[in-house]
Amino acid sequence: MIARVAFLLGLSINACVVAGAPETFPHAAVVSQSEIASKVGADVLRDGGNAVDAAVATAFALAVTHPAAGNIGGGGFLVYRSGQGNVATYDFRERAPLAASETMWLDENGNYDSKRHHSSWLSVGVPGSVAGLHLAWSEQGQLPWRRLVEPAIQLAEEGFVVSPGLAESLKDSRSRFRISPAALSQFTNNGMPYEPGEVLIQRDLAATLRRIAEHGPAGFYEGKTAELLVAGMQSNGGILTHEDLRAYKAVRREPIRGTYRGYDIISMPPPSSGGITLVQMLNILEGFPIRETGAGSAATLHVMTESMRRAYLNRARYLGDSDFNPDIPVARLISKEVAKNLRNTIKLDAATPSVLEDIRLQHESNETTHLSVVDKDLNAVSLTTTLEYSYGSGIIAEGTGFLLNNEMGDFNPVPGKTTEQGLIGTSPNLTQPGKRMLSSMSPTIVARDGKLVLVTGSPGGRTIINTVLQTILNVVDHDMNAQDAVDFGRIHHQWMPDELRYEQFQFSPDTLEQLKLKGHRLKQTTYQGSAHIIKVNSEGQLEAGVDHRRPDAGAAGH
Ligand code: DON
Repeated sequence: MIARVAFLLGLSINACVVAGAPETFPHAAVVSQSEIASKVGADVLRDGGNAVDAAVATAFALAVTHPAAGNIGGGGFLVYRSGQGNVATYDFRERAPLAASETMWLDENGNYDSKRHHSSWLSVGVPGSVAGLHLAWSEQGQLPWRRLVEPAIQLAEEGFVVSPGLAESLKDSRSRFRISPAALSQFTNNGMPYEPGEVLIQRDLAATLRRIAEHGPAGFYEGKTAELLVAGMQSNGGILTHEDLRAYKAVRREPIRGTYRGYDIISMPPPSSGGITLVQMLNILEGFPIRETGAGSAATLHVMTESMRRAYLNRARYLGDSDFNPDIPVARLISKEVAKNLRNTIKLDAATPSVLEDIRLQHESNETTHLSVVDKDLNAVSLTTTLEYSYGSGIIAEGTGFLLNNEMGDFNPVPGKTTEQGLIGTSPNLTQPGKRMLSSMSPTIVARDGKLVLVTGSPGGRTIINTVLQTILNVVDHDMNAQDAVDFGRIHHQWMPDELRYEQFQFSPDTLEQLKLKGHRLKQTTYQGSAHIIKVNSEGQLEAGVDHRRPDAGAAGH
């Protein structure tokens, strides 16, 4: 089990903390990767804001206190469920600039240029976060917009104390900022790494946030912020223009809905692959007696792995931005019938090898952060947002104060080239102007009989969907409380590479041996994801599951 020392030392408002039990809140709760940001959200709830207000304020605060992934220069998804059961999802995924093309990741000799794809001014997608947070707020929020951005402005302007975790992360990432003098200056103390206890002030970021507070999305996509961003692009070989910024729109979409053992699953549709892949895995697993075979047993881990393998193959085959792929067979992919057929191909005693030929289409083809909020009326928000890599592209356009994403790296890079190493070249997710790149972010809400049960989500790139799956199985099948559900060891299989990744120290040697005997290729990882969940327990209390695999996480509420 992951140590809970940090959370036991956390100072959450009116939180009931008992060793071995999750932090619980009677009325309302926010869980995120930054305890400072969670408190910002909890203050909004106390001031009469609802879950969407709190999520927006927490997300802006994360852009200041958790710069590796919290952002205004990136994108994400928000899943909302009202206490009455109305649902909506908000897509603020980045889009490819209008000058982007399918072959832009190949060099002059036709070879894949990974640096261009992941770490260059070309890797920056048109940011979506400000538009998306504003859209969700305009449809669901209650408090004034300015009130929600103000705490982030204060944190950027007056600074906040650098934690040991942030100091280490900034130090480790210094080489990422070499591409951008503005980023290097913002995230070092006159060129030296920030020490824990020092104060990080981000004045340019405060000024940009102030324009957003005053003018809404126009303070970002137009005016001074846009001028500075486009100027940076133009002088560094980027392709993002004023036209791209003006054309950006966040979109409200219908959620992907499924059921699992009588529970309702509400998750994110394309351009996220999360909802469809998650529901397909749950549908397959519904036919196995997971509760009886038990959490963490070889039998359970085997059927989970085989479900992951099959669903991730379908992810590679079919999924991309639905605005560009109107024929994604969503209803089939999330049907019980397709799941039954897939289930019937699973052998209980042996792994099914992954083979490239299973991609049968013509022209074939890690830093994020999650927050969960529940308010006093049981309105719930599950929000995952990202810059793609830790600190995104590592680029700040001079004067803007915010990091730009490198989300273009999520497009399939080489048309037609799918490899056993996990490179995917299928057509639904090739780069096209204005297209949104496929994501694995899977903010998800679980309900039963009309009542809220669980708000869940995680970072971790392609592992996200599997991490979210495991939090759901841990709660639904294994009756774990929120903290145990988050702490429990995780596994990951993504079809290709054909390997079963497992977290170190979490599974017994004989369990691993049994999996090996079934033919799984095992690979140990240090840790997987960072899920922040809220479970409504049988007493109606809100249990916070805070993931301490990454530093600084915390819950707050009242
Ligand atoms: O959208 C996605 O799926 C990825 N860009 C997420 C990246 C991520 O989770 C990295 N975090 N650890």
